[in-house]
Amino acid sequence: MADTLKIFSGNANIPLAKAICDHAGVKLSECEIVKFSNENLKVKICDSVRGQDVFIVQPSCPPVNEGIIELLIMIDAVKHASANRITAVVPYFPYVRSDKKDEPRISITARLMADLLQTAGADRVMTMNLHSPQIQGFFRIPVDHLLAGKLLCEHFNKHGTENCVVVAPDAGSAKRAGAYAVRLGLPLAILDKRRHDDSESPAIHNVIGDVKGKRALIFDDEIATGGSILEVVKALDNLGVTEISACCVHAVLSGSAPERLKNSSLNKLVVTDTVSIPETKKFDRMTVISVAETFAKAIMCTNRGTSISGLYHGY
Ligand code: R5P
Repeated sequence: MADTLKIFSGNANIPLAKAICDHAGVKLSECEIVKFSNENLKVKICDSVRGQDVFIVQPSCPPVNEGIIELLIMIDAVKHASANRITAVVPYFPYVRSDKKDEPRISITARLMADLLQTAGADRVMTMNLHSPQIQGFFRIPVDHLLAGKLLCEHFNKHGTENCVVVAPDAGSAKRAGAYAVRLGLPLAILDKRRHDDSESPAIHNVIGDVKGKRALIFDDEIATGGSILEVVKALDNLGVTEISACCVHAVLSGSAPERLKNSSLNKLVVTDTVSIPETKKFDRMTVISVAETFAKAIMCTNRGTSISGLYHGY
């Protein structure tokens, strides 16, 4: 028989954790998180977890670094409270873009995060749309890498895709965008975006494929400063597209991104709720699709020991 399922949440995205609980038919378990005057955190798990199957929901959301420590302390607290198994549910993985040593004397921080989760006591990790899927290999414990592609494509299929072309914002995302194009039965165009430094201001050099007179659907894994998407929007405008929709799994929306996107010629922005989006960052052309049901299904299957491969398909 499966161990009793308990779901906890850190402070990062409580609405998502509650929505996951609603779909799973489980009450969100309580914990107290106290911050002392010296900025140390204390976590107290309020329910017994002895012998239980515990899931802790904590995506990377601002304040990112505090959220990471909170998650590590929660895992440690649950471990010392004798949980049978602990799954870190991290819908948006912290430091996910720092996954290789592409400059001298830098940290491979995504790997460090993987090590920290395991050291704290996580037995499994559940995440969504990693910047590079091979980050799964940073772990020695099982990683369930869920994908939002099905949800996002369902949205576009529902709203019509006549005369659309899927646009990959850079060569690195071509494989992912290609999978979306196949799923939607649409052609693919690839932009040649290059970053020359850390200034978060990429430049578009070329386009491969036919976009003129078409409705563009841009797919990306995340939108942070909005620099990449805005550069793509500018390039597509110049290339004569008739309409532009952008679709990103993780809506980081840092700094003035919401304002800049709102003031751009982007017709529609579709994102998920892996990262919590304050009302002040939302605007009328933005649609938020919830990943809660997908995570709830994965959590329930994991608890029962049944396959979740149906939740892996299609980026
Ligand atoms: C880059 O490789 C990613 O796929 C995204 O395009 C990037 O993280 C978005 O960041 P920003 O919105 O700051 O350009």
